[in-house]
Amino acid sequence: MRLGRENKVQKKEQEIETRQSVKNIPHPEDINLEILRKKDFTWTRKSLLTTKDLLLDEIDLVLDTAETFSEILTRTVKKVPPLRGKVVINLFYENSTRTRSSFELAGKYLSADVTNFSVSTSSVKKGETLQDTAQTLIQMGADAVIIRHADAGIPFQLAEFLPPHISLINAGDGSNEHPTQALLDLYTMKEVFPNLENRKIAIIGDVLHSRVARSNIWLLQKLGMDIHLCGPPTLLPKSFSDFGVNVHWNLNDAISNADIIMVLRLQTERQTKGLIPSLDEYNRLFGLDHKKIQIAKKDVRILHPGPMNRGVEISSELADDLKYSLINKQVSNGVAVRMALLYLLIFASPKSQ
Ligand code: CP
Repeated sequence: MRLGRENKVQKKEQEIETRQSVKNIPHPEDINLEILRKKDFTWTRKSLLTTKDLLLDEIDLVLDTAETFSEILTRTVKKVPPLRGKVVINLFYENSTRTRSSFELAGKYLSADVTNFSVSTSSVKKGETLQDTAQTLIQMGADAVIIRHADAGIPFQLAEFLPPHISLINAGDGSNEHPTQALLDLYTMKEVFPNLENRKIAIIGDVLHSRVARSNIWLLQKLGMDIHLCGPPTLLPKSFSDFGVNVHWNLNDAISNADIIMVLRLQTERQTKGLIPSLDEYNRLFGLDHKKIQIAKKDVRILHPGPMNRGVEISSELADDLKYSLINKQVSNGVAVRMALLYLLIFASPKSQ
């Protein structure tokens, strides 16, 4: 079929764009030489299960790599070849909107073959063990597995059954950890406040059930942030102060002079009954809105990992106010950060070296 002049120009532009898209990213065969050995530091991590053991050099490299990849997301042709021929498996035992699609897009933008195992359609429903699932992933040639599970610790158990060449990423395990969320939160905060040392962050809400809060606490402490937690005593036990953070049961104490406020979702699905008297009361005492944030810094920014309970932990008006809200940014940055992680983790594996 003959192409019209307009189509030819469009095709040419696309070809140029695709070539440009490859320019700053090493070819798969050249990988591991430059970006993985930046700043006299060699990336060797194969899996990411927690933010607890991340080194500052590793954090820096993830953020720098994400910045490189973020540019690709602005292109009309969002595809570069680094993970061509690599297999990424999304293994989600629990619902997800953002994280699963974010990993799927991240893998696809890097040209990996991405497949989703859904618990509702997989053999787990028929009683398959985690060990058998691991065998299946191995036999299918997985290079990376992204796992979410409602029970804390499952990714760590799966790691025992996988060989070292398969990268494993924790996409949220119960109330324990959600390391990629914390890294994308950090990336988003640093876009506004490049130096986070001594900046005050208030993390508000259902801290008890929040894997996002835990992963952020471990991560942001490394950056020297001044961390304040806030929620009702039933959702924020005093014992959290053992982690070296400030604990408040009064919202004003927590958000006064805050640079950043991270609002958490009220996780009704993980709660036993009676932890809060009513949603109305929770909203009155801990729900964030324009009026309540007046005592924070003038240029305060708001984050929320999503999904949001609008009108409960945050007002719709504030969530949608781009002067304060970084919530949309978190979603788009999540793709770039996950591209960076897939890239670094997969190429750090012994099989690729
Ligand atoms: N932030 C987050 O984990 O959202 P999902 O549950 O939609 O993945």
